[in-house]
Amino acid sequence: MIKFTIITLFREAIEPYLKASMMWKAADKGLAEFDFVNLRDFGLGPHRSVDDTPYGGGDGMLLRCEPIFAAIESVKTKAPNAKVILPTPVGEIWNQKIARKFADGGTENSKHFIILCPHYEGYDERILSLVDYKVSLGKYVLTGGELPALIIIDSIVRLIPGVLGGEKSAEIESFSDGDNLEYPQYTRPEKFRGMKVPEVLLSGNHGEIAKWRKEHSGKI
Ligand code: ADE
Repeated sequence: MIKFTIITLFREAIEPYLKASMMWKAADKGLAEFDFVNLRDFGLGPHRSVDDTPYGGGDGMLLRCEPIFAAIESVKTKAPNAKVILPTPVGEIWNQKIARKFADGGTENSKHFIILCPHYEGYDERILSLVDYKVSLGKYVLTGGELPALIIIDSIVRLIPGVLGGEKSAEIESFSDGDNLEYPQYTRPEKFRGMKVPEVLLSGNHGEIAKWRKEHSGKI
């Protein structure tokens, strides 16, 4: 079981995805658990403010240290071994190998990840002292960490044994040294608008089918 605690100001942007399809099934089977911490609950003053203007000037607002430290510490008091993931465009670029490592429990075998979703123009650099993994989804900039959090979670959860349905994932993994992608697949009808299913897949010859699939699996 892998647990994700998501610290965000925008739970409503994340939750529907986790309540649908495979993420819901993983939770329903007890293979994954998702919970939320509202960063606003740790905001300062009557307006529960979480951000402020940058020292030295510049556009936009930065998330302040105090609410973020308090939010993370509120989780860590109950789960001291939980590891903190920060989605940020300056992190290590996410890939399948890292997802697999996290599905196995991360570098230190932790099965509880806290994902801190930044928002606004950024964050006070001092929050990095609490972060175990800085993760980038690619060389582009998003408005916040919510979409990256979902991608990180989805790519990890689908690797937990039992989430996808064992045979299929095992079959794909057996092809793989880690970087092979799935082969092309077809279902009925055999012919659609002039496009035919490759003959070998209809042959019933499992050896030939396996060979064809191996030859046609994509690489990343
Ligand atoms: N936050 C904003 N842009 C991001 C990116 N490309 N990856 C991860 N987190 C981000």
